[in-house]
Amino acid sequence: GLDIAQAFFKPIQSSSTPSSAKRHTKISVIGVGNVGMAIAQTILTQDLADELALVDAKPDKLRGEMLDLQHAAAFLPRTKILASVDYSVTTGSDLCIVTAGARQIPGESRLNLLQRNVALFKVIVPPLAKYSPEAILLVVSNPVDVLTYVAWKLSGFPSNRVIGSGTNLDSSRFRFLIADHLDVNAQDVQAYIVGEHGDTSVALWSGISVGGVPILSFLERQQIAYEKETLQKIHKEVVESAYEVINLKGYTSWAIGYSVANLARSILRDQRKIHPVSVLAKGFYGINGGDVFLSLPAQLGRSGVMGVTNIHLTDEEAQQLRNSAETILEVQSQLGV
Ligand code: NAI
Ligand code: 2OP
Repeated sequence: GLDIAQAFFKPIQSSSTPSSAKRHTKISVIGVGNVGMAIAQTILTQDLADELALVDAKPDKLRGEMLDLQHAAAFLPRTKILASVDYSVTTGSDLCIVTAGARQIPGESRLNLLQRNVALFKVIVPPLAKYSPEAILLVVSNPVDVLTYVAWKLSGFPSNRVIGSGTNLDSSRFRFLIADHLDVNAQDVQAYIVGEHGDTSVALWSGISVGGVPILSFLERQQIAYEKETLQKIHKEVVESAYEVINLKGYTSWAIGYSVANLARSILRDQRKIHPVSVLAKGFYGINGGDVFLSLPAQLGRSGVMGVTNIHLTDEEAQQLRNSAETILEVQSQLGV
């Protein structure tokens, strides 16, 4: 019979050479649970990839999620969506986002997930590196800082191409809480949480600005009294955010979905924006104890991590950051990677 596609379209001679065509962008998402799917759907709505490959260990869940996303094609920018339990589906990815793994039950710490998720990474990372040797690896599974180190080791990739989503999420929670407190737009609040994504994270109060105005020095200049406890309370709220959401709905998903799509945009569109993300931190800010990944303000572009910003830290902040590094290194020392 007649091929309908051939009958419908009359091919025209194109004068454009392949080199003038827009570069094809492929993102793979490993793990189609709450987090992987929130990331996948944000990537689709924001038109960040030409091709999206999904991988999971559960074939029915995987195919169901793929079909459900494909059925939204009429409302979305065009993206080819593939899914398979076989890693060959990820071949030629520009960016591989790993979200597979165990998540916390209410009250459980992120670090407690380590042994289970390291075992998974030994299955997941080598085939990703094999099928996409030029890719950037973006780790989301927890504990994200230690697993980013594990992914770096298992992939053999240079450290600029292995990134953890880190405190990009904690920082957006922080910006939300400050914005809420001041009744301003969170996008106007520049504020970083650095260090471990989790319980030992460090709030950089000295660097916070709103609409370009440094907040603490402004308050001091105007001789407006503020309570250090108020600041500590906001940071405590950031640290407890995930525990609260997990207690209430069982998992976190929407904010991490937007946070990771935001990183994907900076990387794939070569935006060279600064994000607090987990990078190889050895040698920065007096962190010298060993190869440790934790979040520092890093510039992200098409080659991955382009550099780490040299921001001013107070002595107290620098000490807290080194303590955070010690906590992660302590956990890391128990690994056999
Ligand atoms: P989930 O349980 O909903 O999904 C996990 C998925 O991983 C499941 O679909 C499961 O089948 C899949 N999986 C398990 N073993 C696999 C394997 N060997 N290969 C491929 N897929 C496999 O969990 P959820 O809520 O999506 O969380 C995923 C991870 O993300 C957890 O470790 C969680 O702690 C972490 N997370 C990290 C955040 C961050 O800011 N870094 C934020 C939120 C969650
Ligand atoms: C979060 O902070 C659980 O790490 C996850 O939402």
